[in-house]
Amino acid sequence: MTAPDSGPTATKRTRLVRLLVNGATHDVAVAEHHTLLEVLRYQLQLTGTKQGCDKGDCGACTVLVADADNRRAPVLSCLTLAVDVEGKEITTIEGLATKGKLDPVQDAFDRCGALQCGFCQSGMMLSARALLDENPRPTLPQIQQALSGNLCRCTGYTKILEATLLAATRPAAAGEQPPKEPA
Ligand code: FES
Ligand code: FES
Repeated sequence: MTAPDSGPTATKRTRLVRLLVNGATHDVAVAEHHTLLEVLRYQLQLTGTKQGCDKGDCGACTVLVADADNRRAPVLSCLTLAVDVEGKEITTIEGLATKGKLDPVQDAFDRCGALQCGFCQSGMMLSARALLDENPRPTLPQIQQALSGNLCRCTGYTKILEATLLAATRPAAAGEQPPKEPA
């Protein structure tokens, strides 16, 4: 894991870009070679987006980017230049809850105990949200396919899949407390 390079070989060209992140507008001077991940974490301090492999393998850096029709799709921010998403609506994990209430995906992950170290969770939940936006009632194989780019080293995936199914089939009332564990 490394911060943006600043050594003698670093490109010095910067550009002022307007980034729309979680409903807020940020006018940021970014180096043209810096990724969206670098800008989110090191310039906007949105560290919920995780820096894992930095080469497109793990999915930890997944964020959602909306297209012209406002359809949000998962994007690997470590492979996306910040200048290429200027003016597009970007959702990070910090923007998934709305008006102080958890997104049903977050609530379901909580209820199912689908969290351990948490490193994969931002990307995992955003990939699940993108799937449910497109397909509110996915099958288990469809969920497995949608989350196949997000690697988890802790949970064994079972609870993650259960949580996504729960979010799809019985969306929890956002903000409710999870049920108590049986004694
Ligand atoms: S940090 Fe691993 S895919 Fe981006
Ligand atoms: S909970 Fe640790 S990597 Fe997924």
